[in-house]
Amino acid sequence: MKKIVIFASGGGSNAEAIMKHFSGRENIRVSGVFTNNPNAGVLQKAEKYGVPTIVFNREELNGDIVLHKLDTIKPDLIVLAGFLWKFPEHIVQQYPDKIINIHPALLPNYGGKGMYGLHVHTAVHNNKETESGITIHFVNEHYDEGNIIFQASVALDDCATPQDIAAKVLQLEHKYFPAVIEDLLKKEF
Ligand code: GAR
Repeated sequence: MKKIVIFASGGGSNAEAIMKHFSGRENIRVSGVFTNNPNAGVLQKAEKYGVPTIVFNREELNGDIVLHKLDTIKPDLIVLAGFLWKFPEHIVQQYPDKIINIHPALLPNYGGKGMYGLHVHTAVHNNKETESGITIHFVNEHYDEGNIIFQASVALDDCATPQDIAAKVLQLEHKYFPAVIEDLLKKEF
């Protein structure tokens, strides 16, 4: 059985797409949802799929507690799905090539500190880009700089606002993220 742990900070629509995709599977399951936000919508979504949840604070993430909880699960893949805090270096070092992130733009453009959620789509909108997209990449110690695993792009001609761009990009995320995760895990079977 391959185990996935998801880290998310907000509504968790990507987390839900992943939990839905793998629910009822024999060889792959989502074994935990970790969040820094006690009010995150992702908590109810995890409950709906019967996935255990863990809420932590910054001290617990940057100290030993979150790492210890991960080590008791021993995940094959750690998936950052709208996780908005910097992922700590000591966990990256313990799980080399096993942590991936989704970013709502075509990296290396529109990445880095402070570039998350609507900030990204507003920048894309202000620069009058004709396309945007998604990037799924490995996590290293720098924001949005790990090796790219997958990208998909989308035309923005029918997007009048940053919110329109966000909605279009989110559809791409839901379409591709679960499949990319499955491919990565299958490579290890
Ligand atoms: C997603 O668009 C994800 O790409 C983005 O946050 C959103 C979370 O939505 N992540 C980042 O911006 C990370 N830099 P969700 O909670 O509905 O999955």
